[in-house]
Amino acid sequence: MCGIVAYIGHREAYPILIKGLKRLEYRGYDSAGIALLNGNLNIYKCKGKVADLENIVAGKNITGSLGMGHTRWATHGEPNDTNSHPHISQSGDIAIIHNGIIENYATLKEELSQRGHEFTSDTDTEVLAHLIEDIKNNTHTSLEEAVRLALHEVIGAYAIVIISKNDPTKLIGARKGSPLVVGIGDNEYFMASDATPIIEYTRNVTYLNDGEIAFIKDGKLSIKTIQNVEKTPYIEKLEMNLETIEKGGYEHFMLKEIHEQPRSIYDSLRGRFDPINCTFAMRSLKEFETKIKNLKRIIIVGCGTSWHAGLVGEYLFEDIARIPVEVEYASEFRYRNPVINEDDLVIAISQSGETADTLAAIELAKEKGATIFGLCNVVGSSIPRASHAGAYTHAGPEIGVASTKAFTAQVAVLTLWAFGFAHLRGKASKQDLRNAFAELEAIPAKVEKTLEREAQIIEIAKLFSETNNALYLGRGYGFPVALEGALKLKEISYIHAEGYPAAEMKHGPIALIDEAMPVVVIATKSSIYEKVISNIQEVKARKGKIIAIVTEGDNKVRKMADYVIEIPETKEYLEPLVATIPLQLLSYYVAIQRGCNVDQPRNLAKSVTVE
Ligand code: G6P
Repeated sequence: MCGIVAYIGHREAYPILIKGLKRLEYRGYDSAGIALLNGNLNIYKCKGKVADLENIVAGKNITGSLGMGHTRWATHGEPNDTNSHPHISQSGDIAIIHNGIIENYATLKEELSQRGHEFTSDTDTEVLAHLIEDIKNNTHTSLEEAVRLALHEVIGAYAIVIISKNDPTKLIGARKGSPLVVGIGDNEYFMASDATPIIEYTRNVTYLNDGEIAFIKDGKLSIKTIQNVEKTPYIEKLEMNLETIEKGGYEHFMLKEIHEQPRSIYDSLRGRFDPINCTFAMRSLKEFETKIKNLKRIIIVGCGTSWHAGLVGEYLFEDIARIPVEVEYASEFRYRNPVINEDDLVIAISQSGETADTLAAIELAKEKGATIFGLCNVVGSSIPRASHAGAYTHAGPEIGVASTKAFTAQVAVLTLWAFGFAHLRGKASKQDLRNAFAELEAIPAKVEKTLEREAQIIEIAKLFSETNNALYLGRGYGFPVALEGALKLKEISYIHAEGYPAAEMKHGPIALIDEAMPVVVIATKSSIYEKVISNIQEVKARKGKIIAIVTEGDNKVRKMADYVIEIPETKEYLEPLVATIPLQLLSYYVAIQRGCNVDQPRNLAKSVTVE
């Protein structure tokens, strides 16, 4: 969380930084700030969004071709003007922006205070600015060496950028645990949390590895480790398009991303199987064939929506490939001393590829000898780079904080893996693959058709926008869908919603049901259709208002439900790909009715790079 962007070159930095911050705002929007160097070090910062920052700087000196900007998701210290970044050193000469947490900041602060340093904010970041200056003054060394030495003393996670009034030709960035990418233009350089602020200016980037520091000095880039080992920058070409990070006529990124799903699912499947010869073209399946044949267990780790995709993954791998699966919240897994064996495969699912807990979970599993597959959306992010193999979801940049297209893309790839694993282990014949591929190829059109229900969903959303609670029920593959539907509603409309296994409802949540309670039920034609119908009856008997997701042509549930939303028929194991769509739209339109900021819901951030 927190977005950082910096520029050094021949252009005015301010417009680049502001535009960059707007693109990074999905990472946090508690406060925003900017530092510009032009003889003086001008710092402007405030609580609120980037738009508030723009208001603050109106009429001020915003010149300078060296500068940096920050958009914050508060960890240490409440969101206010003082705690906003950039932070400065004791003399005010050195400025820093930071994404992450300095865990030993209190000890460092205490030591520095004893040496006469005075702090103005409650943040961990300010301590680092002071520490760098303290080392620089005490050892009479260069800024870059002081940064390196300071980072030796720091415990925690960070992506930082530093500029100094006394070094107007230098831009310094470093990372450990939080992402930082360096863009290399023509006599100009950029640094940012992700590549979105950079793509208009250059396609050449290098992603810093953990423990690396990038120094731009007199127009040249060099990279060193904290241990002082020189590194040759590995330059990669960005493949992202500008259109993919703009709203393209939609009112919100979330709505655009919901509507992109026929394409993003297609792109995530494309080229990965050959329906004629019934073969796969996935490196993970080829290079890890022996491992997959012999593995005893799969552990899936993730957070939030990615964890829900993992739950679908459990059902898929067990159902199709007959492999035991455990799905773990990454944050719990890493701290509960789990049993991990060398013949386990750990699949880490993460849209951003940067979620700190998920990253830490795979580091732990790696130490214990497990094989790691990453399933991520952001190319070049930390989790794929820390994994032995994996697959990208090819959903394109997801900017809306509530995840939509990433979820369905994750499920699409998990389905392919489940069949790939099943085939390698003799659990799926060529004919099974042929059938599955045909079904998968039909999914984008079915999602398209489901999106046509939008007008009807808007009407339903209007009726339920005032509710305080909602219940989402599903069984089998419908259960993770129910969880994801409830999470979407919570995230963006602030309505308390619970996802529950439909049959489990009678062990507690049924007590909540009265005539005011909307109950969304996944009641599609499946092997447990009749059982779900019984659960609907139980809700009906308590006067709950039923909104049912049903298979096209269904007339049994229609008679019981207050509202039905039809989706095209598909194989049971593919249902999450289609049934999730109306729930995304429902939460979106409920949130719109309530006047919520759907793309930037309160207290949330898209990329959670702190544990
Ligand atoms: C945050 C986001 C969620 C996301 C979760 C996991 O909480 O707001 O939308 O599902 O992080 O993120 P990841 O990038 O690992 O999928």
